[in-house]
Amino acid sequence: MQEDPITGTIGAEISGIDLKGPISDDLAATLRDALSRRLVLVFRGQHLDIAAQKRLTGVFGTPVQLPYIVPTDDDPQVVRVLKEADDHSGTFGGDWHSDMSFVAEPPAGSVLNALELPPYGGDTLFANQVLAWDHLSPGLRELLDGRDAIHVGKPYGVKWAPPAETQSKGAIKMTRLDPEADRERFHPAVLTDPATGRRSLYLNPIYVTRLDGMTEAESRPLIDALRTHATRPEFCMRLRWTPGTVVVWDNFATLHYAVNDYAGHRRELLRTTFAGRPIADWRAAA
Ligand SMILES: [Fe+2]
Repeated sequence: MQEDPITGTIGAEISGIDLKGPISDDLAATLRDALSRRLVLVFRGQHLDIAAQKRLTGVFGTPVQLPYIVPTDDDPQVVRVLKEADDHSGTFGGDWHSDMSFVAEPPAGSVLNALELPPYGGDTLFANQVLAWDHLSPGLRELLDGRDAIHVGKPYGVKWAPPAETQSKGAIKMTRLDPEADRERFHPAVLTDPATGRRSLYLNPIYVTRLDGMTEAESRPLIDALRTHATRPEFCMRLRWTPGTVVVWDNFATLHYAVNDYAGHRRELLRTTFAGRPIADWRAAA
């Protein structure tokens, strides 16, 4: 197995292994170590079926079924991320976010497997949130350390429901207008890995409405400033998808962004997600 960094700060291309075959305990440990250091792992030309994708997912944590998005008919833990050629709405994941951060137990990571790609475009950006925390100003670190951010499933709820004309035309089947998605969920604004002490900023502009102890109006400029800081080009990589590419990323230490620049072309990927430690364990010890 070979590991080639994609940038100086995030991502690695992993080559020399075929994920269609069995994954030994040694290889699994090596992959987990690579993910913990590089945060995004890219495997080219794998063309995995669902069983192999779930086997890879299981290397990093227990595959989980998430609410609000209707899974594939084939498997309740697999979501089809699909945009048809004639769909001119926004793209699923079209702003910086961490997958499903608004649920009680957000997934620790995600796996995305490319089935059909546009001839160009449809890249995915990732940003290293460990570096984002490390390079935050002392004043903002003091403000965020020990404070919760409030996450809400805005696209799925009532209060922040997006206009009907901006919604995808059924390619991704979602639960909409669910009052339960409007429920405020409190997660630490900075996560502390209980095993290593590593800290990462855990905020995103899609789902975070405010910081604990502050109003939405007071929080908005801070969330905007944090979005700008957390996605500085020096913290980012840009993934160019190729047929059969499979990507694994750490949802607690990265943000990602799906670029919507392939109008007129079909794009289809399969997503699985995995659980890690309960998010309560990521609160810094007082
Ligand atoms: Fe996403």
